[in-house]
Amino acid sequence: MIVLGIESSCDETAVAIVKNGHEVLSSKIASQVNVHRVFGGVVPEVAAREHLTAIQPLFAEAVAEAKIEPADIDLIGVTQGPGLIGALLVGVSFAKGLASYLAKPLMPVDHVHAHVHGALLGLEESLIDEHVFPCLSLVVSGGHTNLYYMDSPTSFELMASTLDDACGECFDKVAKILGLPYPGGPKIEVLARNGNPSAVSMPTMVSEKQKMMFSYSGLKTHMLNFVEKQGSLSESECADLCASFQEEALGQLVRKLKQAVQIKGSNVKSVLIAGGVAANKRFREMVHSELKISSFFPKLTYCVDNAAMIAALAWHEYNIDKNDQQLLMNHDWDAYSRYRFEKVIPQVHSM
Ligand code: KG4
Ligand code: ZN
Repeated sequence: MIVLGIESSCDETAVAIVKNGHEVLSSKIASQVNVHRVFGGVVPEVAAREHLTAIQPLFAEAVAEAKIEPADIDLIGVTQGPGLIGALLVGVSFAKGLASYLAKPLMPVDHVHAHVHGALLGLEESLIDEHVFPCLSLVVSGGHTNLYYMDSPTSFELMASTLDDACGECFDKVAKILGLPYPGGPKIEVLARNGNPSAVSMPTMVSEKQKMMFSYSGLKTHMLNFVEKQGSLSESECADLCASFQEEALGQLVRKLKQAVQIKGSNVKSVLIAGGVAANKRFREMVHSELKISSFFPKLTYCVDNAAMIAALAWHEYNIDKNDQQLLMNHDWDAYSRYRFEKVIPQVHSM
């Protein structure tokens, strides 16, 4: 089955063609990072306008690279939310128009859930069937730090999320405090390589004994106070500070993963890690050495926002709903910015 994926929730426009949920035939991403860098973060209206100019050419490129015709597409999956509403509407409107024109089923997809499937792209279906589910999955991005228990590719039981900042957001804010450009995560990782992770003591946020949740604002405030008190930092002091911060920011993720493995016990076969922070090499090392369970990380191109992960989840959802053609041809749904709301139908009362 040939699935077209479309993603436009934040600052990456992406279009992909994926066969049977795992085999990526093409995956095109147009990043807006350079456009937003001058503002120090993503500007929603600028993002929406950039998606508008990027989406059509990207679709043409994705179809050409996959060596298919638009009529060969069997299913369209599109990010419904969460994300920036103006940005989402570009992808959703494009997808609805294309689905109507091609008369193909359309599947709205949750962006955060789709990230998890980034970790499974390119793997053999038999390996996934035998060695992955039930699993724990952790999405660590600029907007989310969500830990799920999954007994199938489409069931997401939220076990923990952040009380305040997301992990990637904390990397970005700390980078700003240190005068580093956006996005800060990759810059901190590079500087941390030359630093000593035990050089600066960091507060332990949500220890293993505490509840299943994440919290990053205390760590960010600690960094702000430390840098203000310290004044200017030499190159080696900055490297030590980055390494110490990174160790605690990632350490918190590993502590909660261990705790979740204990809670779910022998039921869990593997751990899937996804989202921008999953690109961090130190994080990969920590997970491999500290968790006594198989772990799957996405290829670097599928850590960031991409459309192949959207196509993958759309395919799994389709397999559940495939007998409900009416549902699949229905376009009467909206994009959602933060939370998914049930549609409220106004009641008309006759006197
Ligand atoms: O998944 P993503 O591309 O976009 C969102 O949906 O947010 O994640 C971007 C986030 C940013 O906060 C970025 O700083 C962080 O992922 N990030 C990293 C690394 N690469 C990206 N954080 C730590 N280490 C990295 N190597
Ligand atoms: Zn994302």
